[in-house]
Amino acid sequence: MEGQSPEEERVPTGITGFDEMARGGFPENSINILSGRAGSGKTLFSMHYVMEGARRGENSVYVSVDDDAESVLRASRQYDLGLEKAVDKGLVRLHDYESLMERTGQGLVDFDDLTRSVDQLLQPTEAERIVIDSIAGLGIAEDSVNEMRRSMIRFIRRVRENDVTGLFVSEAWEDRETRYGVEEYIGDSMVVLGLEQMKNQLNRSINIRKMRFTDHDSSFRPIEITDNGLVVHNQGQVF
Ligand SMILES: Nc1ncnc2c1ncn2[C@@H]1O[C@H](COP(=O)(O)OP(=O)(O)O)[C@@H](O)[C@H]1O
Ligand SMILES: [Mg+2]
Repeated sequence: MEGQSPEEERVPTGITGFDEMARGGFPENSINILSGRAGSGKTLFSMHYVMEGARRGENSVYVSVDDDAESVLRASRQYDLGLEKAVDKGLVRLHDYESLMERTGQGLVDFDDLTRSVDQLLQPTEAERIVIDSIAGLGIAEDSVNEMRRSMIRFIRRVRENDVTGLFVSEAWEDRETRYGVEEYIGDSMVVLGLEQMKNQLNRSINIRKMRFTDHDSSFRPIEITDNGLVVHNQGQVF
């Protein structure tokens, strides 16, 4: 990927309003950080992302670190996304923590383990998309944030070498928007899902905090979670 031309190849997420905000989707071969609190819709966004790939006949790898594979599939049944079918067809390869541990033969899985196994995960199907949901637990074994940062950078480098476009889920932590406070610098883009309680209702929003290589919408748009998944409304639209 080079240059900043508007014809830059895009990787659409299938979330219509978001793809509009991002001028077509994530730039090809970029690493994108998605963050927000628990329940803000990060896993749902990730499911849309791999399903849009499946719809286009592209292969994806979905590494679910936080939830086991069965829980991911069960959660996906709430929405009309067809994730199970895509997994059955082999268009989405779903790996969870348990299966990663079998692969690495170790008790804890961290960024270095993933760096060692990511080629094996991606190459058999020539995957074009990868989701890590989430990266929040992968740095726990590191002695310092600096170590974690270096491991994460090595991992990202290896992912990029595979010509895939990555979606890495982080999580809001204490007063920070990401777990380690460095993901926003390392990633090419950062998308934040907002979740705020206002009186008796939850207000959900989406915002592209940064996106390299491209112009993008930087407003906060209201979002809604429906039986069809995540819906992005126009700016200022109240529901
Ligand atoms: N049909 C629905 N209508 C409204 N909200 C829903 C519906 N299905 C699920 N949700 C809510 O959407 C949230 C989706 O969160 P999820 O993607 O798991 O968030 P995260 O991964 O950020 O924790 C769920 O916690 C649930 O509260
Ligand atoms: Mg989740």
